[in-house]
Amino acid sequence: MADTFKNTPPAPEDKGAMTAENIAAALAGESQASQKYLAFADVADGEGYPNVARLFRAVAFAESTHARNHLSVLGKIGTTSENLKAAWGGETFEIDEMYPAYDAVAKLQENKSAQTTIHYALKAEMDHQGIYDETLKGVEGKKDLAAAPVRVCPICGHTVIGDAPAECPQCGTDGSFFKEF
Ligand SMILES: [Fe+2]
Repeated sequence: MADTFKNTPPAPEDKGAMTAENIAAALAGESQASQKYLAFADVADGEGYPNVARLFRAVAFAESTHARNHLSVLGKIGTTSENLKAAWGGETFEIDEMYPAYDAVAKLQENKSAQTTIHYALKAEMDHQGIYDETLKGVEGKKDLAAAPVRVCPICGHTVIGDAPAECPQCGTDGSFFKEF
């Protein structure tokens, strides 16, 4: 039997400011490509091209692999405790500064769709901030999360641990459509 698969991305290397900037730009590009291809795959499925959808999902995985390698070289993948702190910090910045600022501009420019997507993201980041905070407390005491499903609204990203609500409090989507992890 083959050994258990271990993900071993290239090791962090702190050398060359311009290289670091380039790798950070590549990380952003590959991350976006991966997301784009996943959305394109859903369109292909909807239009009756399941094998084109398969291709898009496979290439999305490849781009996601590149993004992970770039992250690793930038030294941005740590222990679970470090990762939870970094994740909490990212969510907190989005809640306190980024999305409120973006929302103000979208309001000024009367872009309703942008306000909707910003609102969905901001609310879900609040869910994540709270969940990461609680999870970190456990992990700092070497305790894993309780074995319960995590459920996510496929429309707005509202995230709960355990049972889905009857309907999403943010966007009204029926709880039976929540994706389970
Ligand atoms: Fe929702």
